[in-house]
Amino acid sequence: MTLTAIKQKTCILLKPDALEKNVVGKILDRLESEGFKLVAIKLIPPSKQLLEQFYAEHSGKEFYERFMEFMLSGPLIATAWEGENIVQRSRDVIGATNSKEAKPGTLRNLYGTDNRKNLVHGSDSPSSALRELKIMFRELD
Ligand code: TYD
Ligand code: MG
Repeated sequence: MTLTAIKQKTCILLKPDALEKNVVGKILDRLESEGFKLVAIKLIPPSKQLLEQFYAEHSGKEFYERFMEFMLSGPLIATAWEGENIVQRSRDVIGATNSKEAKPGTLRNLYGTDNRKNLVHGSDSPSSALRELKIMFRELD
């Protein structure tokens, strides 16, 4: 099957464990190697208000509180990328939510820990990408 090439943007967060494990360079290198173009990047200090907004759809779920605690454990790096069909392609590179179940060679398989400490976030649709980029890169609006 040939996918029609559609240029998209996506939001990828390098979570606190990525900085803790010193694999920021490896993650960016991998994404660039896939042919994705980095269009914005910044370090975000822990902010409850920002993360509650970003992860609003998960509020109230059983994992939410502990997940938020982890997300607030250190700074994260917010990135914006552009590429053809990048939303699905970047999620393929990132791997399954649970790092322990992520396919060999995916970022979460290589550097993630588990279901919560899973290294990176990638938008799950073009519309969530736009919503998430607005939250993380307000100044680019
Ligand atoms: P989700 O959107 O389901 O996963 P993904 O990041 O692959 O799109 O969940 C958002 C984040 O919530 C996930 O990256 C890590 C956290 N989480 C947990 O801590 N425990 C869980 O059981 C699940 C499903 C998610
Ligand atoms: Mg998700």
